[in-house]
Amino acid sequence: MQPYLPHDDPNPEFRKQTLESRRKQYFFNYNYISGYPFLDHVPKREKFSIYYWASRSASLGLLPFNIVLAKLRTALIKPVDHLYDFLNLYNLYRRPEQIEAWLADEGFAEQRISGCNPQAIRRLDPVPADFPFSDAHLHAVAGNGRTLAEEAAAGRLYFADFEALAHIKGSDFKGRHRTIPSPRALFWWDRDDEKLHTVGIQVRRQAGARVFLPSDPLLDWVAAKMAYQCADACHQEIGTHFAWTHMVMAPVAVVTNRQLAEQHPVHQLLAPHFRFYLYDNELGRVAFINPGGPVERMLGGTLEESLGIPLNLYKLWNIRDFTLPTELARRGVADPEILTRYPMRDDGVPIWNAIGAFVGNYLGIYYKNDSDVAADPEVQAWTRELASQDTSQNGGRIAGMPERMDSVGLLQQILTTIIWICGPLHSMLNFSQWDYINLPNMSYALYAEVPEEVGATTYDTLMKIMPPFNQASYQLWWCKILTSYRYDKLGDYLQQFSAPEAQLAVQVFRQRLQVIEKEIEARDATRPVSFPYLKPSLCINSINT
Ligand SMILES: [Fe+2]
Repeated sequence: MQPYLPHDDPNPEFRKQTLESRRKQYFFNYNYISGYPFLDHVPKREKFSIYYWASRSASLGLLPFNIVLAKLRTALIKPVDHLYDFLNLYNLYRRPEQIEAWLADEGFAEQRISGCNPQAIRRLDPVPADFPFSDAHLHAVAGNGRTLAEEAAAGRLYFADFEALAHIKGSDFKGRHRTIPSPRALFWWDRDDEKLHTVGIQVRRQAGARVFLPSDPLLDWVAAKMAYQCADACHQEIGTHFAWTHMVMAPVAVVTNRQLAEQHPVHQLLAPHFRFYLYDNELGRVAFINPGGPVERMLGGTLEESLGIPLNLYKLWNIRDFTLPTELARRGVADPEILTRYPMRDDGVPIWNAIGAFVGNYLGIYYKNDSDVAADPEVQAWTRELASQDTSQNGGRIAGMPERMDSVGLLQQILTTIIWICGPLHSMLNFSQWDYINLPNMSYALYAEVPEEVGATTYDTLMKIMPPFNQASYQLWWCKILTSYRYDKLGDYLQQFSAPEAQLAVQVFRQRLQVIEKEIEARDATRPVSFPYLKPSLCINSINT
């Protein structure tokens, strides 16, 4: 379709009528998830195509056989009474390389930066007054003579605090009480070996609760690491992954259909980044976070408690602070001189820059200066509706969204953020789940308490903390469904753009991504643990899985 800005459109009446009809098809329902703008019903054009259904189903062909084999092995050959027995989950699939690496401290700490949830950590500086970790704890991993205050000032302390999970009391599952912990943990970055080391984990949040240390009795320490892994899994799957990509971008997709005509160049730019997205979110609502659905069955909270996780994270998000450079800077992980290795940043920033340059080139075709943007009524209506909190006016409630779009630069930044989140960021979070959010690495629930007393954890306790095998196989089943299929790849726009200048901008973008791909491959070869998740060839354009 030929792109036209509103005032250039040769058929303005048709454009107006089409937009009016779109507004009747796309509107929010704020009651599905308390106050959150969810698309009321999904128009037919948003649904998965036959090609999508067929190829995604085909990508799952081995899954039922894999699960049957896992259950047969467990029932007939070896019941699960050892942590390694969870490896029986992998029969027709290659076992992810890091799936048992957390048992060694090096693998556990490395997972914080190379795993599926790198956004869980932030630089700690200064050290808070009531901090549970002490200089003595630090000495055990960093050597005597160092203090928390000095190490924090030097950018060598990193902290994870799963406060967003602290409201969870737990749920009953087949006669057992299970829960999701909300631990805090401190890590020390050793600049000499360029590795993260775990200082300690506080499993419970009460004042004076035990700080578990790597030097503790082995089984105590393994139990504390299990608690961390569980919190990280839940924080990732329905937090950084679901809330910070699936939830935050959906209002943008809806309002784009309501306020920007299909002929609008910005609509055309965003369309591939919203492909199948609204339908995928709808499936998530009715078949994943629904009563009795996978979230209720797998996660340790009641359904209401578990859904509190995305709602807590959603409140922390706004479109200004979640540009990639700002998000990294806010967590204190932006500076490669300080944290010399952080794959999400090292691979993400070049991609962010490439998207920004592409969006800039593209907008330059249609807007010669800031007044052109200010005078575009559809872009202004889009901006206003996204920013609006008013539920009677279909407000998109996008926190941090300006009321007016008054410059090309601002529009470029917001569109870059949208494409980054729908494309590379979602792909990184979504597809890394297969490698990490499975047993024995991560469980969505702890099925027994982690004992506080020193030396009280037995091997039997560890196995009681871990999920029943059926739950572990159900977790693997869903993890495969969410990660088996990539519809397209970043920058692969097929025949989306008809203007030759736009095609040129796309070609330059793709060539830049090819160079970045090679650079990432070279960097990845030098890493202690591979982090392939931001390779452009592995990123899809839209959130549709
Ligand atoms: Fe996803």
